[in-house]
Amino acid sequence: MWINDIVQKNKPILALSPMADMTDSAFCQIVRQIGGADVVFREMVSSEAVVRDNVKTLGMTDFVVGERPIVQQIFGSDPLTMARAAAIIMEHANPEGIDINMGCPVYKITSNFNGCALMKEPERAANIIREVKNAIGETPLSVKIRLGWNDPDDFKTFIPVIEDAGANLITIHGRTKAQGYSGVSDWARIAEAKTIARVPLLANGDIHEPSQVVEALAITKADGVLIARGALGNPWFFNQINNPQIISLAERCLVVLNHARLHIAQYGERGLVTFRKHLAWYFKTNKIGFEIPGIKEIRVQLVRISTFSELENILEKLS
Ligand SMILES: Cc1cc2nc3c(=O)[nH]c(=O)nc-3n(C[C@H](O)[C@H](O)[C@H](O)COP(=O)(O)O)c2cc1C
Repeated sequence: MWINDIVQKNKPILALSPMADMTDSAFCQIVRQIGGADVVFREMVSSEAVVRDNVKTLGMTDFVVGERPIVQQIFGSDPLTMARAAAIIMEHANPEGIDINMGCPVYKITSNFNGCALMKEPERAANIIREVKNAIGETPLSVKIRLGWNDPDDFKTFIPVIEDAGANLITIHGRTKAQGYSGVSDWARIAEAKTIARVPLLANGDIHEPSQVVEALAITKADGVLIARGALGNPWFFNQINNPQIISLAERCLVVLNHARLHIAQYGERGLVTFRKHLAWYFKTNKIGFEIPGIKEIRVQLVRISTFSELENILEKLS
């Protein structure tokens, strides 16, 4: 199992966190090609849509060999539907792990007892884990949680419940649902979670720079980290943890074009419209790491592109 393989190496687990509309196959391939990440978590998919044979949703779980090991996240509230969806995904794509989303704070998700709402329903959460575990057998099952719904100490009672139900790994974002993305991720509380957890635990939240990983691990004593926004526009993040380096503009542009090609392979050239959000991240000044004259105007052009040749033409001016 990939979790034990990494833990036995006595090194922290470095993982790409699941992000809807961002950690798709194309982006995970880029992160993998650059290297440094031990495992990538793919964006959440709806268990209801999977069991309804929604072709688009099942297609979201497709991946190429170069992305392995990969963990596919699912969300839902009905234990049997979650179990059926996990089994379908295992048969379809055979990922190295299934992850259950118990951390999403978005109303569209929580209003149906999905995502972080499951932290208010420990019994239902445990049932989901038990059923999914039955359905996927030896495949590792991880659960992504927050500190709690309103109470930042909910995790203290919730972690034993999900472990007893069969979770093999827990990732914890150091905010409550009520906080959304306000405030900061509470690494001290994640350290408390680590003292409670019997299974490996990954720390998440506000590890924005590669240089912060060592500090986050020192404070939380977690078995690894889950990186989300830090990796957007910076797929070099995981390599930079042990090898700090500024990425040249020429290399940035090369990787952006490769990423765009993979994005087109996944969605077709019309899909480039959804690549604009990646472009916005790639060309934020704090991601580039140095000032580029005229970057503001270039950014405006980049987030309007519709074709690959438009993208090439703009980037040619840069490198
Ligand atoms: C655009 C975006 C999409 C996200 N989608 C998901 C998701 O599908 N599943 C999930 O568990 N968390 C999701 N998250 C939460 C992140 O995985 C992560 O927990 C959060 O951003 C905190 O980590 P960070 O400070 O490293 O960004 C998303 C976050 C962002 C910014």
